[in-house]
Amino acid sequence: MVFSTPTELPAPVPAHRPQAPPPHQRRVYPASQFVQSPQAQFRHRIIVGVDFGTTYSAVAWGASSDPDSIEIINSWPTSGTRVMDSCPTEISYQEGSTVDFSWGYDIPSTARRLSWFKLLLESDEDDIKRKVNIPEGLDVMDVCTDFLHALYIYTMETLYRKKGRQVMEITKVDFVLTVPAVWNEAAKQRTQKCAEAAGFTNGHKLTMISEPEAAAVFCIKNQDAHNIGAGDRIVVCDAGGGTVDLITYNCLEISPRLRVRECAVGEGAFAGSSKIDRNFAEYFKERMGPHFENLRLETQQKVIKNFEAIKCGFRDRPDQELYHVTVPTVNNLPEAGIENGELIIPREDMRALFDPVINEVITLIYNQIKETSENAGRVNTILLVGGFGESLYLYQRVVAWAGPHDINVIQPKSAATAIVKGAVIRGLEIHLDASHPGKTQVERLCRKNYGTVSSQIFVPGKHLDEDAWIDPQTGRKMARNQVSWFIRKGQPLTDERRFSNNFHRNFKHPTPFLDAMVASTSDMPPNRVEGDVHVVCRMTSDLSSVPKNLFEKKWKGFRSFYSARYRLDMTIESAEIKFELVYNDRYAPS
Ligand SMILES: Nc1ncnc2c1ncn2[C@@H]1O[C@H](COP(=O)(O)OP(=O)(O)OP(=O)(O)O)[C@@H](O)[C@H]1O
Ligand SMILES: [Mg+2]
Repeated sequence: MVFSTPTELPAPVPAHRPQAPPPHQRRVYPASQFVQSPQAQFRHRIIVGVDFGTTYSAVAWGASSDPDSIEIINSWPTSGTRVMDSCPTEISYQEGSTVDFSWGYDIPSTARRLSWFKLLLESDEDDIKRKVNIPEGLDVMDVCTDFLHALYIYTMETLYRKKGRQVMEITKVDFVLTVPAVWNEAAKQRTQKCAEAAGFTNGHKLTMISEPEAAAVFCIKNQDAHNIGAGDRIVVCDAGGGTVDLITYNCLEISPRLRVRECAVGEGAFAGSSKIDRNFAEYFKERMGPHFENLRLETQQKVIKNFEAIKCGFRDRPDQELYHVTVPTVNNLPEAGIENGELIIPREDMRALFDPVINEVITLIYNQIKETSENAGRVNTILLVGGFGESLYLYQRVVAWAGPHDINVIQPKSAATAIVKGAVIRGLEIHLDASHPGKTQVERLCRKNYGTVSSQIFVPGKHLDEDAWIDPQTGRKMARNQVSWFIRKGQPLTDERRFSNNFHRNFKHPTPFLDAMVASTSDMPPNRVEGDVHVVCRMTSDLSSVPKNLFEKKWKGFRSFYSARYRLDMTIESAEIKFELVYNDRYAPS
């Protein structure tokens, strides 16, 4: 393989975008009083897990990998005496301000609030954009950064309050942030940038891991009834507010060391519980008819909030035919079915609000079971986790569907907090040696094909004329835009495993050069940049500090040039991909 000059690639922005967005001063919070100095001598270490959810966010911490000793923040600003394992992922900017805001439970009930903004880190669907409605002067990353900063400060304050300043000054705090497994690299990168700007790297190490993986590890380690044993194949369905994320594991060993192997390529969709809220919003609007326009925005928001409790308690009991949602400011409106300030919803309408979403979830579970049966064998257990995973109606529907196939459905204890607690457990294991019995071994199946773009010697018939160029050093005809795939979709991966590919590059003077890493989800990815092949990242490497005599000197006629042979290494972790350039067995600055 020959790698010569940097290859031209289409920019990773859609071609129809008219022009670059206006320059925007993005949020970066100044270092807070909690910044940790890299020189400090730490005697303790705490791992904090952060589950930044679409609808609710949670924070947990621990100092040992014993699931029973993991603590969770359950008292939030203005949550009062109520114990809440999570706080609403909501923010409300003061009228006319893009800087002053309240968040979580602190938002006054009448204030206009932003929610579901996490989804915009991944999706640019117009429908979601309209619903989130980010105020002028801010973009989605500002909003996420502001919310995460509030979460960071509150977490650190809580740790200082609970443990005392003296202990905290000798305690290293590191963070593990969970992200949906189905998110693309750009969305994960945006999340990481927001977390960095929010303070999560102020002397702390920040790791990102996938939400369903964290949940699965917690549930298997924390089971009381030993429902899951070696040899079981389990589908973990993390049903949250925005996304439903699935992962399927073959449990190779449970104890003393947990070892699991993914046996279907994980999948997910925007099929979370907030879709039921959206269905309800439409339903309410329809029921209100022309009266809907007379309702104030706060009242509309309140009605959706009031529906939440009804939704969470719904279990399709034959002895309960009617459900009631309070509608403030409207007392009686017979044509809308509002009596004594309550909208009356028949049981079958409740089912109709849930069923399209649940059908989507069941289809996703079915896909995992089908793929597993083709690759690895029969799935015998389904674990429902996440907030929506606690729904009794979802449980009933999944049991009704899976029970006849002799598949066990489990709603584990702490289903809603499994993700954030699992993040702590995985974070505590990071420093353990790969052979340590306490280190969970997760073998994943790669979700995409990953590769790098290079030029190859032009072969007529194989390469396209539009890719042809002449290498000025060698005078050879080359073809640009060719992809060398490092890792194929479905290929097994572990955290420790490194994938390498060798290249060489010709130059007269060593100047920094650019390598483009690309991905494709296709089963048969093309060998050229086309179709769904997209840029994941670009890496600039600089070999200018390498003495020239270490490069191979070549000649073309009387003109000399240099040739460098180097290796590109790639490691894929739970939610992070690393590319490194290795020259002479040393990592090049990049
Ligand atoms: N019993 C229940 N029935 C139905 N929905 C529920 C129930 N309990 C919680 N939910 C819903 O689950 C969502 C919260 O779950 P969770 O905290 O797992 O989601 P999230 O982390 O905010 O979202 P995501 O994981 O998609 O980013 C909310 O939409 C909430 O209304
Ligand atoms: Mg979640």
